[in-house]
Amino acid sequence: MSTSTQFLNAVKERRSVYAISSESTISDKEIVELVETAVLHSPTSFNSQSSRAVVLLGEHHHKLWDITAETLRKIVPTEQFEGTAQKLASFKAGHGTVLFFEDQNVVKHLQENFALYAENFPIWSNQSSGILQFVVWTALSEQGLGASLQHYNPLIDDEVKSTFGLPAEWKLIAQMPFGKVVTEPGEKEFLPIEDRVKVFQ
Ligand SMILES: Cc1cc2nc3c(=O)[nH]c(=O)nc-3n(C[C@H](O)[C@H](O)[C@H](O)COP(=O)(O)O)c2cc1C
Repeated sequence: MSTSTQFLNAVKERRSVYAISSESTISDKEIVELVETAVLHSPTSFNSQSSRAVVLLGEHHHKLWDITAETLRKIVPTEQFEGTAQKLASFKAGHGTVLFFEDQNVVKHLQENFALYAENFPIWSNQSSGILQFVVWTALSEQGLGASLQHYNPLIDDEVKSTFGLPAEWKLIAQMPFGKVVTEPGEKEFLPIEDRVKVFQ
């Protein structure tokens, strides 16, 4: 097998891209279809389909980062807030944001129905979200869009849910702002692969 399959090339190319613009390389309809495909086909434990996604575009995307800035302004020391505000502005400068949630109703029902695995379901739910995040991230990257992974949850959860009318049982896991790449990320350093993958054959 060659390591230059289309899929592995996309895996290699995906990076955290922080310098993004409000333009997009694909239409909003294609962005939504990309997220829907990722949600539909990413695996979840027991095929529970616990993952939820919200695509924020235009003023809704701006609103998210305004909420985040106002929330952080209240808790970040004034002298540090300028840096935080700049970082949040760089996300707001993007084209949109994908919010990743896990439906806690689904997790709760699994725990009730399969008591033997009760402790594992929240872990597997998080892992399922991670897989979905990676699929969306890599698919956006393959379309020439830059994205990064952010975690302002749980600070912003209540206001995000009330602003966008989302169910209380949806737990916010991550935020992925994306847009056209303005500056490519720098070189990445790698630990020796032999220390990370052991092979017995
Ligand atoms: C589970 C997870 C959580 C992360 N959380 C954040 C985050 O909160 N903020 C951020 O800027 N990057 C976050 N990252 C991005 C990593 O810092 C980044 O993926 C890593 O440094 C490798 O760089 P690359 O994405 O360019 O390959 C996260 C990545 C993962 C996998």
